[in-house]
Amino acid sequence: DWTPQSFVEETVEDLQNKLGNDKVVLGLSGGVDSSVAAMLLHKAIGKNLYCIFVNNGLLRKNEFTDVLEQYKGMGLNVKGVDASARFLDALAGLSDPELKRKAIGRAFIEVFDDEAHLIEDVKWLAQGTIYPDVIESVSATGGPSATIKSHHNVGGLPDFMKLKIVEPLKALFKDEVRRVGASMDMDATLLGRHPFPGPGLAIRILGDITAEKVRILQEVDAVFINGLKEWNLYDKVWQAGAILLPVNSVGVMGDERTYEKCVALRAVESTDGMTADWVNLPYEFLQKTSNDIINKVKGVNRVVYDISSKPPATIEWE
Ligand code: XMP
Repeated sequence: DWTPQSFVEETVEDLQNKLGNDKVVLGLSGGVDSSVAAMLLHKAIGKNLYCIFVNNGLLRKNEFTDVLEQYKGMGLNVKGVDASARFLDALAGLSDPELKRKAIGRAFIEVFDDEAHLIEDVKWLAQGTIYPDVIESVSATGGPSATIKSHHNVGGLPDFMKLKIVEPLKALFKDEVRRVGASMDMDATLLGRHPFPGPGLAIRILGDITAEKVRILQEVDAVFINGLKEWNLYDKVWQAGAILLPVNSVGVMGDERTYEKCVALRAVESTDGMTADWVNLPYEFLQKTSNDIINKVKGVNRVVYDISSKPPATIEWE
């Protein structure tokens, strides 16, 4: 009989036998899978697990510092690497969604490889791969392995990709991963987090990326997500976020005519991201959120709500 407790016990023992006194490097994303994988490895090998959490500058507002603190509080041996400037540089002038994804994938690999080189005699690369990633080979959603794949085609392998691979969650589905995390007393807010794409806000800022656009979208997103939490809607939604449109529209503020940005809000129900329905959020919530965004976020004067389902639309706009 499969129980999260027995899974943890068996996996920790297997990991100890397999890894012995070897060092292991793992990239934390802030998401459920990499976090649970890290906890399992931490239980098994403690300080020999070296976690790297990269700030690509495209995370949600305050996410890098908050989640890094949370990881440290869990006892993980984690290093936060703020590479925001490097990613912004890599993105400069790019508008095409696939080019943006590739630039981010490449920058991530460079940063991660640099960091992995600092760990003397590291032998293993741990990944939070789960069963659906294995069967779909992730290409559909373009997760971390997809960025690795596109790099793969470009040239030689970066050194960290020559490491031996350890994937403790490879046989689990998402809900099992959450149960395993809960059985290790991991924080419910960490385990209940919405999925968030690897390229982050870069694929929610349509067109080219600037630091100012990232700042605006982080503010808008924070008002929306915090609102969902306050209204007890966060856990009823599978994924939510805001999109910064490459459109200015006319508005009025006091006696002044404004000509500012428009943002779209998106909230979907789904089980695996392959299909999705837009969520019928309460009008009162949408009304309050729209007012809050326009009043609090300078540079935005219009909010729209995305009522498209997947297919034929996708969850992300890029
Ligand atoms: P779409 O937009 O294809 O998204 O309906 C389905 C799910 O995948 C996520 N997504 C990504 N995740 N890298 C990722 O790690 C990506 O490039 C990427 N593109 C989309 C999206 O957030 C949704 O959960």
